[in-house]
Amino acid sequence: MLQEHLGYVADAVRLEHFRAAIGKSVRTGDRVADLGCGSGILGLLCLQAGAAHVDFVDESEMIEVARESVARAGLHNRASFVRGRSQHVELPQQVDAVVCDHIGHFGFDYGIVELLRDAKRRFLKPGGAMIPARIDLQLAAVESEKFRQLAEGWGATGVPGEFHWLSGQARNTKFNVNLPREDILSAPVASGTIDFLGDERGFLSCCAELRATRAGTMHGLGGWFDCELAPGVRMTNSPLAEKKIDRAQAFLPIGEAVEVKEGDAVKATLMLRPAESLIAWTAEFPANGRRFTHSNWQGMLLSREDLLRSNPARVPLLGRAGLARRTVLGYCDGRRTAREIVQVILKEHPGLFPSAEELSGFVARVLARDTE
Ligand SMILES: C[S@@+](CC[C@H](N)C(=O)[O-])C[C@H]1O[C@@H](n2cnc3c(N)ncnc32)[C@H](O)[C@@H]1O
Repeated sequence: MLQEHLGYVADAVRLEHFRAAIGKSVRTGDRVADLGCGSGILGLLCLQAGAAHVDFVDESEMIEVARESVARAGLHNRASFVRGRSQHVELPQQVDAVVCDHIGHFGFDYGIVELLRDAKRRFLKPGGAMIPARIDLQLAAVESEKFRQLAEGWGATGVPGEFHWLSGQARNTKFNVNLPREDILSAPVASGTIDFLGDERGFLSCCAELRATRAGTMHGLGGWFDCELAPGVRMTNSPLAEKKIDRAQAFLPIGEAVEVKEGDAVKATLMLRPAESLIAWTAEFPANGRRFTHSNWQGMLLSREDLLRSNPARVPLLGRAGLARRTVLGYCDGRRTAREIVQVILKEHPGLFPSAEELSGFVARVLARDTE
């Protein structure tokens, strides 16, 4: 986890863009919420820019890194720290600005739409600032034998034939990869926009006509973001940008490799349901009439049980873990200690799990996660 956050904190281009955006959007005396704060770097930049107070929120143990780092900056008396999922926590008062980097690799794929929609509704004062304010999604044609193997690897010689069917799943998967600029086969096209201050759509559908800038073989679509952090401050992970942040892009494979000539058109469409993490894409080649349709819904490994469980008419019954959780939580009466709860569960309900070790571990995890 720390390794991942080192990547964010050590990305000088990203910090430069966020510092510039915060300089424009956060005024002296403002109250700010840093949602999904991780190391706390963005909230720290807000405090250094003159924010009176920052509410740091993160669902992971990184909240402790934020707490310690802000204290080391001598700014802890202007900061509060909440561990929890942003959509579940309450803040003591509304804020003038919200900052986050939930932009993911393709703009919508890290939960930013739901996070900022909720923040706008519950945390942000009317007219407050959002950093980022909007995200443009960019699409381009990609030639990459290497990344095609991500999709086709399951069908390769050497893989036992019983597993070849998994190529079908992999061809319907979005991969996060570092696309070299020489793999880009067309000029990128801005294919859709998510506007956090105005947009309330749960579904986004966009089209782009891509033109091959050279002859080559197309293996898929490349996707990345170009976002407006604040008026006049843009940040991108485009492999073609002079000043890109250090972040991979999305690669969306297509069913078969297709030869293209310079100037050939490729019609691409993208359909997104960010709340369900669903993405569908098509690529159509008017020059030869070929068309490919994919979606990560087709790429999901859904078991029969998963499908049965998703039936709204089903009458659910508690499974073993559910029964165990209910039993453990039933002993949380505001008087018993954690040790006493483990002891009573081991004594009264030894059959909840096959071994005492597994049972004690389960109780500890439930108490850590579901109690205060
Ligand atoms: C991409 S990192 C960004 C960290 C930091 N804001 C930065 O810019 O370096 C996302 C962080 O958000 C946290 N996170 C993800 N979803 C969250 C949610 N819904 N509520 C709170 N924290 C979340 C993760 O634990 C992670 O630390």
